[in-house]
Amino acid sequence: MRRVVLVTGGSRGIGAATVRRLAQLGFDVAFTYRTAKTEAEAVAREAEALGRRALPLPLDLEDLSRIKPTVDAVAEALGGLHVLVNNAGYVQRVPPESLSLEDWERMIRVGLTAPFLFIQAAVPHMKKAGWGRIVNVSSLRALTGSPHGAHYAAAKAGLLGLTKSFALALAPYGITVNAVCPGFVNTDINREQLRTRGQQILSQIPLGRVAQPEEVAALIAFLCTEEAGYITGATLSINGGLRMD
Ligand SMILES: NC(=O)c1ccc[n+]([C@@H]2O[C@H](COP(=O)([O-])OP(=O)(O)OC[C@H]3O[C@@H](n4cnc5c(N)ncnc54)[C@H](OP(=O)(O)O)[C@@H]3O)[C@@H](O)[C@H]2O)c1
Repeated sequence: MRRVVLVTGGSRGIGAATVRRLAQLGFDVAFTYRTAKTEAEAVAREAEALGRRALPLPLDLEDLSRIKPTVDAVAEALGGLHVLVNNAGYVQRVPPESLSLEDWERMIRVGLTAPFLFIQAAVPHMKKAGWGRIVNVSSLRALTGSPHGAHYAAAKAGLLGLTKSFALALAPYGITVNAVCPGFVNTDINREQLRTRGQQILSQIPLGRVAQPEEVAALIAFLCTEEAGYITGATLSINGGLRMD
C-alpha cells in the first residue's frame, strides 16, 4: 500500500530533507511552504523523479483557518493521509523583557497552535486508515530555554506536552506521536548565528560539528516507518551530545 505523508515547511532545510527521505522510502509526499515556491517545486520534482506523487501547497501557518481545508485536500487528492510531520517554524531573536505581545502570539500561533490544528485535522484520516505516524519537530531550546527566544522555547516546549497528550489519546488507534529535538543544524534558520558565533557554538558540541539536515530527516523518517511502531510519546534529541538527557 502506498502511504501518504504531509510535511509542513517542506521547501527548505530539515523539511525539504524529510520530504526527500520519505519519497526515497516510498511515500507519496504533500508538503507546505510559505514563500519558497521555486525551492518547493524543485523538491516536488525530485520526489516525482523517484516515482512518487508530490503535492507542494502554499500555506502561511499564521492563517489557521486554512489548515483543516488543506489537510482534507491532501487526503482527497492523494487518497488518504497516514503521516504528518509538523516541521515548519522560524526563529526571532528578542530578549524576553522586550518581546511584544504580537511577536509572542505569532510564534505561539505558528509554532504550537498550527501543529495542534494539523494534528486535529489529520487524525480522522489516520483513524480511517487504522494506522498513523505523527512527528513534531521541537528543539533543543524546549529543554534548555533560550535567552533570546522565550516565545520560541515556549512554543517548542509546548509541542512536547502536545506530543505526549496525543500519544496517549491515539495509542489505541495504532497512531504514534513523537517529538524530535534538534540542536544546531546547518540550515538557513540559524545561518546568521552560525556565521557570527560559529566557533563558540562548535566548541560546546562534543561531536564538534553541526548536524546536516539529512541527519535529522533520517531520524524523522525512521519514526514514520512501520519499524518504529513501538515508539510513542518520545522526545528524541539529536544534538551532537550538546545536551545528554
Ligand atoms: N536548524 C536548526 O538548527 C534547528 C534546530 C532546532 C529546531 N529546528 C526546527 O526545525 C524546523 C525546521 O527548521 P529549518 O532549520 O529547516 O528552517 P528553515 O530552513 O528556515 O525552513 C523553515 C521552513 O518552514 C517554513 N515556514 C517558516 N515560517 C512559516 C510560516 N509562518 N508558515 C508556513 N511555513 C513557514 C519555511 O517556508 P518557506 O521557505 O517557503 O518560507 C521553510 O519551509 C523548525 O521548526 C525549527 O524550529 C531547527
